[in-house]
Amino acid sequence: MAERITGLRRTHYCGELRPADAGKEVVVFGWVQRQRDLGQLIFIDLRDRTGLVQLAFDDETPRDVFEKAFACRAEFVLAARGPVRERSSKNMDLPTGEIEIEVKELRVLARSETPPFDIVEDSNVKEDLRLKYRYLDLRRPDMQRRMIGRHRIVKAARDYFDKNGFLEIETPNLIKSTPEGARDYLVPSRVFPGKFFALPQSPQLYKQLLMLSGFDRYVQMARCFRDEDLRADRQPEFTQIDLEMSFVTADDVMAIGEGMLQHVYREVLGVEIETPLPRMPWQEAMDRFGSDKPDLRFGMELQDLSAALAGTEFRVFAQALAEGGSVRGINLKGQADHLPRKEIDKLAEWIRAYGAKGLAWTRLASTGESSSYEKFLSAAEISAVRERLGAEPGDVLFLVASPKKKVVYDSLGALRCELAARFHLIDESKPCLLWVTDFPLFEYDEEAGRYVAMHHPFTMPNEEDVDRLESDPGSVRAVAYDIVLNGYELGGGSIRINDPELQERMFRALGFTPEEAQEKFGFLIDAFRFGVPPHGGMAFGLDRVVMLLLGGDSIRDVIAFPKVASSAELMSGAPDVVDAAQLRDLHLQ
Ligand code: AMO
Repeated sequence: MAERITGLRRTHYCGELRPADAGKEVVVFGWVQRQRDLGQLIFIDLRDRTGLVQLAFDDETPRDVFEKAFACRAEFVLAARGPVRERSSKNMDLPTGEIEIEVKELRVLARSETPPFDIVEDSNVKEDLRLKYRYLDLRRPDMQRRMIGRHRIVKAARDYFDKNGFLEIETPNLIKSTPEGARDYLVPSRVFPGKFFALPQSPQLYKQLLMLSGFDRYVQMARCFRDEDLRADRQPEFTQIDLEMSFVTADDVMAIGEGMLQHVYREVLGVEIETPLPRMPWQEAMDRFGSDKPDLRFGMELQDLSAALAGTEFRVFAQALAEGGSVRGINLKGQADHLPRKEIDKLAEWIRAYGAKGLAWTRLASTGESSSYEKFLSAAEISAVRERLGAEPGDVLFLVASPKKKVVYDSLGALRCELAARFHLIDESKPCLLWVTDFPLFEYDEEAGRYVAMHHPFTMPNEEDVDRLESDPGSVRAVAYDIVLNGYELGGGSIRINDPELQERMFRALGFTPEEAQEKFGFLIDAFRFGVPPHGGMAFGLDRVVMLLLGGDSIRDVIAFPKVASSAELMSGAPDVVDAAQLRDLHLQ
């Protein structure tokens, strides 16, 4: 039977005890990491969130205590009381390895079945099993470190915002559906048959209204919900460090954003980040790295080959250029002998996921040169391409041509990162942070056959480009900025439109009739008639911040109870069917 805790109070956490504590009588609580029975001697490593301590039982130990220790198994929950003493054989690998507790009283507070996996650091247990027993997985020291680190990051961020005059204000989680971007999660209303709340994709509209209400500097650790396809850096429910400021320019918001990261790096990791962070216009990021979240820790930049191939008769390249697309390439330096033809063929298959119809390549191997496209080019074109890519013996050149510039950027941008990872070209020694600025205000949605807002419809157009809002929307830049860390989009934001007339033009450019705009965003449009200050803000993806600062391959590693790729939660079995009565209440079938 489980014993009670009555009369015992913890004096120390397990991992805190040191030789200086020798002689003190202590009380510790924790889980059995392992029990070693050496006949006359029993040792138990007891674990709590701070680490391990050794409990010792020998011929001095009261008989009943010794017998209890004998019966202990992994993951039993114990209370132990006794003096700390120096160990005869020390374990210098353990912070508490010089001492042990000579147990005088032992209580078994709970027994445990044999766990489905060992509770140890970096276990390579399958993730599905870890997630099914997440509460046990979270006992593992690396997971405990991540959860504690996450707390410290949030705490440091809150301190920073408090010091800078921000107010933390909560916004609702049951809101009106205002579809933009991802799909909404919907919650049926019991009181209003056939009507639905949506869960917020972000507090965007509410935080703008708070600016109108005069709160001036707002921040929130905001839970957001998006019904989108999951990846390693995406969850259907995630947390943003969300902020908004009044009477500011983009520079002011960016200074606060990078100031927060600097503070968090310093407080949590003791790492100094130099600010202001470098900035790169979106167009430059795309041209050089094929990505709006460029990883600058390695080179292999994209080169535009349109000049070199201007007059080419090779149909694939000529057609891409004639239709307003591009041909670009990258050079994987010095790896030709390590990238066999078979692997190149696999990459050509892999790159199709990014829209590329094919991957043209030249391999300058020591055993001879080969190429998929050079036979179609003139000698002058071959050397112009090679020159532009800085080709030397040992290199592998990759070219992508498409009538759609986006396909060329996306596929070469992804290939660049894939090759860098595969050939260990990344300098992991320091974080690489930058702002990407001057995003296009719109992107063309092929399916819908119209322009859609790249960020959201309240983003301020660049003053210099406003005239082209109607005539050439594709060329209008936004006062929007993303912060990028090691090739991940950490966060982003913008200055918002606070001029009702400009907002109306924006809705029109997006193809909303005044009625549709009123239908969707009426409450915001109405509010904006009552004196809205110039304002702007941004949001960091907290889970990504934590993952990148603490290390982890997926944001699942820094979320206590995450969901898997199918959006299911393996431990509780959500989502699940519900009672007929519940459905009836909600007017659902
Ligand atoms: P945005 O949609 O760019 O902007 O989101 C901001 C940041 O949130 C993180 N993020 C996610 N993290 C985990 N899982 C997801 N599914 C997910 N989606 C986004 C990213 C991203 O950079 N309201 C605006 C911000 C603003 O303009 O102030 C917004 O939500 O790190």
